[in-house]
This record gives sequence, structure tokens and C-alpha cells, in this order.
Amino acid sequence: MNNDKLSSIELIELEDKYGAHNYHPLPVVLDRGEGVFVWDVDGKRYYDFLSSYSAVNQGHCHPKIIKTLIQQAQKLTLTSRAFYNSQLGRYEEFVTQYFGYEKVLPMNTGAEAVETAIKLCRKWAYEKKGLPENSAQIVVCENNFHGRTTTIISFSIDPDANNHYGPFTPGFIVIPYNDANALEKVLTENTNIAGFLVEPIQGEAGAYVPDDGYLRECCKLCNEHNVLFIADEVQTGIARTGQLLACDYEDVHPDILILGKALSGGVYPVSAVLSSGEIMDVIQPGQHGSTFGGNPIAAAVAISALEVVRDEKLADNAMLLGEVFRNEIQKLCETSKIASFVRGKGLLNALVINNEGHKNLAWDICLKLLENGLLAKPTHTNIIRFAPPLVITEKQLLECVEIIKQTIIGFE
Ligand SMILES: Cc1ncc(COP(=O)(O)O)c(C=O)c1O
Repeated sequence: MNNDKLSSIELIELEDKYGAHNYHPLPVVLDRGEGVFVWDVDGKRYYDFLSSYSAVNQGHCHPKIIKTLIQQAQKLTLTSRAFYNSQLGRYEEFVTQYFGYEKVLPMNTGAEAVETAIKLCRKWAYEKKGLPENSAQIVVCENNFHGRTTTIISFSIDPDANNHYGPFTPGFIVIPYNDANALEKVLTENTNIAGFLVEPIQGEAGAYVPDDGYLRECCKLCNEHNVLFIADEVQTGIARTGQLLACDYEDVHPDILILGKALSGGVYPVSAVLSSGEIMDVIQPGQHGSTFGGNPIAAAVAISALEVVRDEKLADNAMLLGEVFRNEIQKLCETSKIASFVRGKGLLNALVINNEGHKNLAWDICLKLLENGLLAKPTHTNIIRFAPPLVITEKQLLECVEIIKQTIIGFE
């Protein structure tokens, strides 16, 4: 079958008929991408304001990253970790120096990296901290999103994420987000806490930004109680929020850092867990692994993707244009009945919609945005996330602000 000849309706029907219905996509079939733009199969151009959930921070099909991908794909793709490969060591040196860590454990997806961090934390707790076997608890936050594996959804409070997927993995304590007192209480009352796993900004919850000082306070509490501070920066990391890491806003250096998504510029599944040598060395040969983790394509691509972030100063751009975006959208909120408020950091932002009397309003707004040439997706029923590739220019951003304003005004 030649896909080029199929219409978007036919292509949607194919996904509907043969694919699992675990997503609810907007009705657009994308065929091509470049920088901040994507094109559908009919050649219509859109601004991408989702960036594949913040994986394409460097823009679609960045030429430097694609060149690396092609060159490496023509040379060597996969060796497994049964052997050394000529890219992995270079990447490991590069990525650890880039983020200021001693060691990295390479994986593929964000969820795998979170799973790795959980295993690393538990093993550290038994072998270094001296907790009794099978007693380790990891503290997590309400409204977290860390991925979709059975263990990770065991500590989600979203019924969609965990309904009928039990029995669940024990060993997690859920506390409110943005509440350092709650963390202090749990750390004081329990002697068997191994780690605290937190998103520096809750992305899937709707770009929920904690109060200034929250992360610093949590990190301090963890240090005092000999508990590992684990930051999941899969969505917030790699310049998205206007700093290389969202933790950088508070000068917090997590004991374990989890990265994914933009680590490859959205070109290839690459994730990583970074820590000190003392922590990482609790995992010895045969005790954890992945066939694809650390493969030569992933290693080469990730170096290029991180070079782009640094050379094109994407964190600075995100910081600057994030301010512009929120100021402009805030002006809209002041006069709008349906745009309630905007929040976020850098270019990870969310507009909260007043959907009283019109439950699907955020979805309908996204459908209209699509018609008007901008792709965004609701997260939960009344929040629209706006997260363009970080290569966007101010002129393009202002054009997008105008599209968003006119679209919302059309619903007033
Ligand atoms: C904070 C966070 N952690 C983990 C994940 C899971 O990543 P993946 O979908 O690559 O498994 C996500 C995905 O959205 C995320 O936002």
C-alpha cells in the first residue's frame, strides 16, 4: 500500500481500525516537520505548540542532529552492551560533564529512566543507607506524571492512569505537591525513606509551577535525612523552562537526575539517569540493562542534540520568549471570560480555561486553533499547554499569540 495516495481521513481510519485506542489525537495527519512548523498530508502548515510533549525542543528535523543520525545509522546502529561501542564512552563523558555528574546510565524512554532511578534508589538504600531488605519507601507527589509502567502508575492518583491495572507495586508514599512541610513530616515520621521523586514543574498536571524555594527546601530536607533527592526532568529539562534544568532556578543539584525526550531532540528514544559514582556503583554487571540503551545512534544523536541546545542558546531564548508569551496571554486573560489565567516557566506554559457550562471548551478551542494553523492539546479537561520548539523567534511567537487571541475571542 502506498501511503502517499491516502487522504487524511483514510489514514485516520487506518489508525482507528488497526491501532489500540490509547490516545485521542486531534484530527490532523502530519507528514513533515521543520523547525517550529509541521505540515499535514494536504500540505497545510501549522505552528507546533506541543513539541511532542517537549521532545522537539531543538525544532523538528534539526539538520545537525539529522546529519548525525544518518551518518551513524550508515556506520553502526546497535551492538548491545555485550560489547563496547565507539560512541558510548564519548557520550558518557560529554553528558556527565554537560550536566555536572560523575556517572550516567543510558536508557531509551522516560518511563524506563524513571524505573531505573527507582531501582537505583532502592538498591542504594539497602546497600549504602542500610535499610532492612524490602522496607524502602519512595516519597512522590500528588498529580505526578512519571510515565506508564506498572510500577510508575502504582503511585499515580489519576484514575485513567491506573484503573484496572492492579495489583500495584508497593513502596511509595504520596504527599501533596508544593508542600515542603508535608515532606518534612513524612521524613520525620518514617525511618525507611530511600528517596523523594519529584517533577520540578508538574508538566502533565498542567505546567503547575511550585512556589519559589520549594525545591531548595525539599533538597535540604532530603540531605538532612539521608534521603535521595530525585528530579524527573524528562519534560522540564534541556532548556524547556528557560534554564538548562528547571532545578537550576533554585541551584539544586539532585542526587539523581532523570532526562529523556529532548535529550535526542525528538529524533530517537534516548533517556538517561545521572548520579554520583557512589550511588551509581551499587548497580553491578547483570543487575540492570537494556538492549537498546546506550546504542551508538542514541549516543551520537544525543551529543548533537545537546550541542544544539548549547550553541543556539535555547535556554536563553526560552526564558526571554516565555516572558513575552505570558505577558501577552495575561493581557488576554484580563478581558476574557473564558481564558482564566496563564502559568508556566520559560516556554512550558498552560492556559487555564473557564469551562463552566461547556465541558469540552478546551478541546473545541484546540480544534479551532488547528483550523487557524496552530497545534496545541488540552491536558486534563480545562488546561491547554503551550510549548513550542525553543528555536521559535519573537516574530513567530507574536504571530502565534495573535492566533491564540483571535481564536479565544471567537468563543467569547
Ligand atoms: C515528567 C515525565 N516523566 C516521565 C515521562 C515518561 O516519558 P516516556 O513517555 O518517554 O516514557 C514523561 C512523559 O510525558 C514526563 O512528562
